[in-house]
Amino acid sequence: MITPLIMAGGVGSRFWPLSRKHRPKQFLNLVDKNRSMIQHTVDRISKLTDHDNIFIATNEEYVKEMNEQLPEVPLENITTEPMRKNTAACIGLAALHMAKKDPEAVMVVLPADHLILDEDRFIETIEVAVKIAQKGENLVTLGIEPTHPETGYGYINYKDKYDAVEDHEVFEVKAFTEKPNKETACEFLELGTYLWNSGMFIWKVSTILNKFKKHMPKLYDGLKKIDQALGTKNESEVLQEEFEKFDSISIDYGIMEKSENIYVVPGDFGWDDIGSWPSLERVRKQDKHGNVISGHHIGIDTKNTIVHGNGKIITTVGLDDVVIVDTEDAILICDKKRAQEVKKIRNLLASNG
Ligand code: GDD
Ligand code: MG
Repeated sequence: MITPLIMAGGVGSRFWPLSRKHRPKQFLNLVDKNRSMIQHTVDRISKLTDHDNIFIATNEEYVKEMNEQLPEVPLENITTEPMRKNTAACIGLAALHMAKKDPEAVMVVLPADHLILDEDRFIETIEVAVKIAQKGENLVTLGIEPTHPETGYGYINYKDKYDAVEDHEVFEVKAFTEKPNKETACEFLELGTYLWNSGMFIWKVSTILNKFKKHMPKLYDGLKKIDQALGTKNESEVLQEEFEKFDSISIDYGIMEKSENIYVVPGDFGWDDIGSWPSLERVRKQDKHGNVISGHHIGIDTKNTIVHGNGKIITTVGLDDVVIVDTEDAILICDKKRAQEVKKIRNLLASNG
């Protein structure tokens, strides 16, 4: 059995001020006008398995909107975290629910913020990864050929060829480095034996639970208590109590950087992480000066700039490499090269979302 898990509980803080606590990135129509990021993710993976097998992991506060946007996914497949504790806890909780159905099921972990151009090739690549995951206690990731020293991604140092399925090669992973600094990312690119981590993981439910036991014992102990309480009247109380104790840590830092038996299947399906404002340059049309404009903009000597308007005329003079975003109650003006840091602003304003 294959059970996709779509992680959709993040805020998308690098898309502030468009993404807000009450309307996070996964609910926004960032790549096309008609379907949100999460709807695209479900549409894509439903080519692999029935909607009944698709799980969504999110925060309590987003369940209603999730259900409205995705009526085809059974409500009981939406696993809800009482608070945001990052992707390790999110995957852990979902694994408990999946284990009730089938502990040997293969979990296909997908973020909700990606653009994939060739969906058939994508599904084919996942099928290869599923085969490798079924072979043993293996952690499998999909890797992407890096094009620039991005500091917002994880890097996979791959070594020997492990297997090949049709025209897909599979490599053993030597080391996994989550979000290196610029200098290290440049070194990785020069060395040439690195792939970007796409943030998609494939493993058996039983495998990931064993990895939590080994590498994140505190999380594992909490999960065991939650597991005993699932379906009882104490469920929400225990969930709350245990989640409060969990450290906020991503699966990349918590498991991938520490584990052995990792394999990578390079993917050539046209991948993009819609992670921060500059990523729109790769998916939206640019004008002849390299600007990406939505809304009403008049510019003099303005180039390589991203403008996201909200009704007002936005005028600019002599700008290069800037991001300007206007929303009802907040404006962002940012050096495009530092767009990753927008996340810090959101954190500074965390109390007003
Ligand atoms: N349910 C739930 N709960 N989902 C979460 C939580 C949480 O607490 N935190 C994040 N998510 C979801 C986000 O909504 C997103 O879909 C996914 O998990 C990944 O989180 P991001 O915050 O977008 O991670 P990232 O982009 O910084 O880094 C990851 O993805 C990169 C590729 O896009 C890492 O896996 C990197 O190694 C990778 O390169
Ligand atoms: Mg992301």
